[in-house]
Amino acid sequence: AAAGAPEIHEHLFKVLVIGELGVGKTSIIKRYVHQLFSQHYRATIGVDFALKVLNWDSRTLVRLQLWDIAGRDAVDAAGWTRRGPEDRMGIFDDEKKSLYESSTFEAVLKWKRDLDSKVHLPNGSPIPAVLLANKCDQNRDTSQSPSQMDQFCKEHGFTGWFETSAKIENLIDASDDLQDKSKAMRE
Ligand code: GTP
Ligand code: MG
Repeated sequence: AAAGAPEIHEHLFKVLVIGELGVGKTSIIKRYVHQLFSQHYRATIGVDFALKVLNWDSRTLVRLQLWDIAGRDAVDAAGWTRRGPEDRMGIFDDEKKSLYESSTFEAVLKWKRDLDSKVHLPNGSPIPAVLLANKCDQNRDTSQSPSQMDQFCKEHGFTGWFETSAKIENLIDASDDLQDKSKAMRE
């Protein structure tokens, strides 16, 4: 490095994005990385990768390697019973169903257990997990309060949770609440 130039520290993080078929994993990544949204659903096959580069501060560069994992393939790989397409749609993609129905939480716990059984940190502890409640632009009844969500995360080993939408522009960056929460989580 040139004399006097500040040294840049680079960090690479791998982020696994997992969840039921069609919940919006690919869409959230596309929104986050490319600021784009499409109504069109094309199921991910296998795994796709995306890279998000963050200029964290003047001396720190963070690269997020986002692993966009197919809901369908992971379910197959884990040997879960395959349901019919109607049944699968019912869990996450029926607009009348809320994000907060118990089937949604059961699915979340299934994914969390699968994650914890397959990967862990070098010291053996579970990898940090954040819960995203996506499609928050859709109608739903808010039967779970924020404090119930906090409690769910605490009980089941999630660092925190966020309501997200891939459809709404600037939701991730514009929300003061999200900013505050992610700041609190970093601390
Ligand atoms: P798999 O790859 O099959 O596991 O699905 P996925 O989780 O990657 O879902 P994907 O991102 O492909 O989104 C599925 C459908 O939901 C698409 O039609 C998206 O347009 C729609 N969708 C995703 N996120 C949102 C959201 O925040 N709001 C609304 N309204 N629709 C969304
Ligand atoms: Mg996908």
